[in-house]
Amino acid sequence: MRVNSWNGWDPLTHVIVGRADGTMVQAPEPTVVRDWPDDGFPAGAYGPLPDDMVQAANAQLDAFADLLRSRGIRVDRPDVIDFGRPVSTPDWEQGSMFGCMPPRDVLVTVGSEILEATMSYRSRWFEYLCYRPLLDSYFRDDPDMRWEAAPKPRLTDDAYKPGFWPEYEALGFDEQIARVRENDLALTEIEPLFDAADIARCGKDLFVQLSMVTNRSGVDWLRRHFPEHRVHPVTFGNTHPVHIDATWVPLRPGLVLHCGEREAEEDLVQYFKINDWEIVSAARPAKTWDELPKLCFCSPWLSMNVLSLSPDTVCVEAGETAQMELLDSLGFEVVPVPFWDVAPFGGGLHCSTVDIHREGELQDYFP
Ligand code: NVA
Repeated sequence: MRVNSWNGWDPLTHVIVGRADGTMVQAPEPTVVRDWPDDGFPAGAYGPLPDDMVQAANAQLDAFADLLRSRGIRVDRPDVIDFGRPVSTPDWEQGSMFGCMPPRDVLVTVGSEILEATMSYRSRWFEYLCYRPLLDSYFRDDPDMRWEAAPKPRLTDDAYKPGFWPEYEALGFDEQIARVRENDLALTEIEPLFDAADIARCGKDLFVQLSMVTNRSGVDWLRRHFPEHRVHPVTFGNTHPVHIDATWVPLRPGLVLHCGEREAEEDLVQYFKINDWEIVSAARPAKTWDELPKLCFCSPWLSMNVLSLSPDTVCVEAGETAQMELLDSLGFEVVPVPFWDVAPFGGGLHCSTVDIHREGELQDYFP
């Protein structure tokens, strides 16, 4: 086997698909307090997601894994650990972990390297352990694989802005967007922090969203870690930015899918346009906010969280008819995959996977 993936669209031959088992509504921590009183988790309460939801999500994840295998793609799955147990470091104690979904948040493959992200939630600090058996096996099987881990953050209270959420939620849309553009959000700059899912890979260019879980120091660390790449910090007009892959999704050379209601910075738009990329607005999601599954902390824009199997084949959530029609009109073979039961576990088809191998080599798409 060989680890190799430079972008999100080259032909996929090997992938990790997450598991729903044991996922928790995580215990409160400095920037995460779940609050779902109608679904049994009022602010501060935590515990495992209900069994029936786990089973439904696993059924969709397993079917997705089988579909990928039927197309000749090797699929690996992470190890489940006891996410309900409290964890600690010398700096803090945390009442629970989260789960082993979505793997895209934790790992990013850049060429022959798999990099473990810092993560920025205490509940996700140990999540890399779920992938270590796989990473260890790739390291043994592929003599050229580079196995890297970003510096584990301390995540002391100083990593988070005190009182951030009440202050932020009291602001109007324009004021919130101004804060997003400045990345004056939940995290301080005391140490590099990033989630892997804030990175969109386009060969020599890595676009990294500054978000609630990725700070400027994190982008700076990535820039120094990948000196041969152009690493671009980017923001969008999204008041709650967490992960780039329901906002800016490159689908093939020359085509990026954009969540139109989350305005891209003019510099980013121009960078794509002068390199002859088409920026296509994603179709309206099939679901409204009120129709999202319970305990879901993602937005309806999971509709555009698609997984490319090749530059002309893309997996799309099966109920997202408008999105499928749009991609069909752009010349893609669209593979419908039922997946909304997975959303409460942290994401869609792209989130739930990590590329391990795609054919193709490093290219410069923005010469
Ligand atoms: N946090 C994003 C999902 C990222 C896949 C959103 O809710 O739109």
